[in-house]
Amino acid sequence: MDDLKVAVIGAGVIGRTHIDTLSKAGGVALSAIVDPTPAARDLAAQRQVPYFTDIDALLAAGICDAAVIASPNDTHVALAERMLDAGIPILLEKPVASTLAEAAILAEVTARSGVPVLVGHHRRHNPLIKTAKRAITDGAIGPLVMATVTCAMLKQPDYFDVPWRRDPEQGGPLLINAIHDIDLLRHFFGEIATVQGTHSNATRGLDVEDTTAAILTFEQGGLATLALSDAAVGPWSWEVSSGENPGRFPKHDHITHLYSGREGGLSLPDLSLWTYEPGGDWTHPLTHRRLEAGTGDTYIAQAEHFCAVVRGEVKPLVTCDDGIRNMHVVAAIKRSAQTGRAVALSELESVT
Ligand SMILES: NC(=O)c1ccc[n+]([C@@H]2O[C@H](COP(=O)([O-])OP(=O)(O)OC[C@H]3O[C@@H](n4cnc5c(N)ncnc54)[C@H](O)[C@@H]3O)[C@@H](O)[C@H]2O)c1
Repeated sequence: MDDLKVAVIGAGVIGRTHIDTLSKAGGVALSAIVDPTPAARDLAAQRQVPYFTDIDALLAAGICDAAVIASPNDTHVALAERMLDAGIPILLEKPVASTLAEAAILAEVTARSGVPVLVGHHRRHNPLIKTAKRAITDGAIGPLVMATVTCAMLKQPDYFDVPWRRDPEQGGPLLINAIHDIDLLRHFFGEIATVQGTHSNATRGLDVEDTTAAILTFEQGGLATLALSDAAVGPWSWEVSSGENPGRFPKHDHITHLYSGREGGLSLPDLSLWTYEPGGDWTHPLTHRRLEAGTGDTYIAQAEHFCAVVRGEVKPLVTCDDGIRNMHVVAAIKRSAQTGRAVALSELESVT
C-alpha cells in the first residue's frame, strides 16, 4: 500500500513535531508544508517537500490525501472547513476553535462533510494512558471518588513574544495545556457536570491568566481538583514528568495525576495501583503494584492512528465532539472564574 500523503499546515512549534513525526511513522509521508513564513519555506526546502503559503495553493496542487492543521487557534475553523469541503481528512490541533461559536460552526461542517476529523489530544495515544484507560475501564479503581491533577510549568519569557499566547481569548495555560488534562479526565471518568474556578494573572502580569484552580464535578459522581500555572516551579506537570516529548522537555519522575476510586487508587505517570485486601481500610497496609505499560512514541502512535482513520480502518480516538466538549469545560471554568459562581456545563450547551 502506498504511503498516505500528509500535508502540515502551520510549521511552528507543534507543526515541527508533526513534520518530524511524519518522517518516522509507518504508512505516512510528509507531502507539503503550508505556512506563510520564510522559516517555513526554508524548512520545506530542507525537507525537500513542496512549499505553499496558503491552503488554496495546496489544494490546487492536489498532492495531499490528508492534512495536519497546526496553525494558531483562530485559523482552525476556516482552514478545517476548507479542507473538509475538499474531502481531505484532518488531524486538527487543539483547541479545535478559538470560540464556542466557531466550534459550533466546526461541528456543523464536520457533520455535513462526513470527512474524518481526529483532534490532537495526543496524550490518549500514549502507552501509559492506554494502560490506565484499560485498567479504569476494567474496574481497577471502581467508580471515581476524587482526583487531583497538577500542572506546574515555568514557561520561558520569550514564549510570550507570540501575540496569541498573551491573548486571554486564545492563550493561557488552561486552554493551551490543561485542556489535555481535562481531555484525560473525560476520557477516564466521563462527562463533567459542573465546575468552579478561580484564576490569576498576578505572577506574570499579562492580560492572560497564568494560574488557575478548579473543582470539577462529574455526571457519574466524583470530584476532581485541577491546579495549574505556567509561572510556577515544580516537576508536577505531565509535560515534564511523562517523558512524552523528549525533543522539547526533560523528564522528572514525579506523580502529576492522582485518581482515587471506591476500590483502588491509581497515579500517573508512574501507573501505581494501590488497593486493599478484601475488607481493608486505612488501618491496614495498602497493596502496591505498578501496571505494565507498553512503549512507543506518543506522536508516532497518533500519526499511525490518523493514517488508519483516513483509510477508514478505525474511528477517531479523539473526535471533533471531544475537542468541542473540552473547550466547553475550559469556557465554563473561565466563566466561573469571572463570575465567582459554579457553572453547569449545560449552561454552555445552547452555544452549539
Ligand atoms: N497537541 C499539543 O501538544 C500542542 C502543543 C503546542 C501547540 N498546540 C496547538 O497547535 C497550534 C499551533 O501552536 P504552536 O505553539 O505550534 O504555534 P506557533 O505560533 O509556534 O506556530 C503556528 C504557525 O502557524 C503559521 N500560520 C499562521 N496562520 C497560518 C495559516 N493561515 N496557514 C498556515 N499556517 C499559518 C504561523 O506562521 C506559525 O508558523 C495551536 O492551536 C496550539 O494550541 C498543540
